Amino acid sequence: MPQYQEKAIITRVEQFSVKNFRLTLDSPEIASCAKPGQFVMIRTGVGNDPLLRRPFSIHQTSSNGAIQIYFKAVGRGTDILAHVKKGEALSVFGPLGQGFKVREDSPAVLVGGGLGIAPMLFLAKAICRLKNVCSKGLVILGGREKNELAPLLDDFHEIGITLYTATDDGSLGHHGNVVDVLHSIDLPANCTIYSCGPEPMLAGIADLARQNGVVCQVSVESVMACGMGACLGCSKPRKDGSYAHVCLNGPVFNAEELKWNT
Ligand SMILES: Cc1cc2nc3c(=O)[nH]c(=O)nc-3n(C[C@H](O)[C@H](O)[C@H](O)COP(=O)(O)OP(=O)(O)OC[C@H]3O[C@@H](n4cnc5c(N)ncnc54)[C@H](O)[C@@H]3O)c2cc1C
Ligand code: FES
Repeated sequence: MPQYQEKAIITRVEQFSVKNFRLTLDSPEIASCAKPGQFVMIRTGVGNDPLLRRPFSIHQTSSNGAIQIYFKAVGRGTDILAHVKKGEALSVFGPLGQGFKVREDSPAVLVGGGLGIAPMLFLAKAICRLKNVCSKGLVILGGREKNELAPLLDDFHEIGITLYTATDDGSLGHHGNVVDVLHSIDLPANCTIYSCGPEPMLAGIADLARQNGVVCQVSVESVMACGMGACLGCSKPRKDGSYAHVCLNGPVFNAEELKWNT
C-alpha cells in the first residue's frame, strides 16, 4: 500500500468549539489512495518541539486532492494545530494502518463517540456509494455537548443516511451516550457495526454486537510514537494472548479479535 510524505498547504481552518477544529489540507497523493479508517501522522511543530508526529484519522478526502482532519486540542501538539493559519504548510505522512472493511451485503451501523466521530464521515460516504447498504444503514454520533457534533450534521444529512445523536449534557439528541442509543434501536438484520471511540464505549458495543450475533469492527486508539511498526509502543492485547500493533494491524480490528477490559 503506497504511503507519502507531503508538505500539505492548509486551505481551510474551521473552529467548531473552544477546543474542536477541522483542517482542510491540500494533500493530493494521500487523498488519492486513503481508505476510511486509515490515519495520517502530522508534524505539528517546527523543529523538535514536539519531536514526534501525532496521529489523526482521515476525516474525509475529496477528488480535488484535499484531506480533512477533525481534532480536539488536548495537549502540546494539538494546541499548536489549533493555532495554524490558512496558507501555512504541515508535514503529513500517510495513509497509514488498516481501515474499515465495508461489507457490501450487510446494512451498516456506524457509531462514533467523542473523537471517534472523526473517521465516520469518510466511512459513511464510502458506504453510501453502495446504495443498498446506505438505505438500510444508520449513523450514531455522540459527544460531550452540541458544538462537538452540530457543525458536522449537514455533511451527514447530505449523504442521506439515517442519523442519531447523543450528548452527555443533553444539548443535542439523546441525553446520554451512543451505547444507550444502540441499545434502544432495532438493529437491521445481518448488519455490521463500524465503531470508533474511547475504549469503554467500544467494549460496550463489542458486547452488544456479540449478544446480537452481528459483526463488529472497532477503531481503537493508542499512544503512537512512530505510526509504522518501529517502536512497539502501540501494542494491544488480543484474545489469544498475542499482541497487535495498533498502527500496523489496526487501528481497525474485528471486535472479536481483541481482549476487552470489562
Ligand atoms: C489512530 C489514531 C487516530 C486518531 N485520530 C484522532 C482524530 O481524528 N482527532 C483527534 O483529535 N485525535 C485523534 N487521535 C488522538 C490524537 O493523536 C492525540 O490527541 C494527540 O496525539 C495528542 O497530542 P498532543 O501533543 O496534543 O497531546 P500530548 O501533550 O502528547 O498529550 C495530552 C494528553 O493526551 C493524551 N494522548 C496523547 N496521545 C493520545 C492518543 N493517541 N490517544 C489518546 N490519548 C492520547 C495523553 O496521554 C495526555 O493525557 C488519534 C489517535 C490515534 C492513535
Ligand atoms: S506506533 Fe510505533 S509501533 Fe506502532
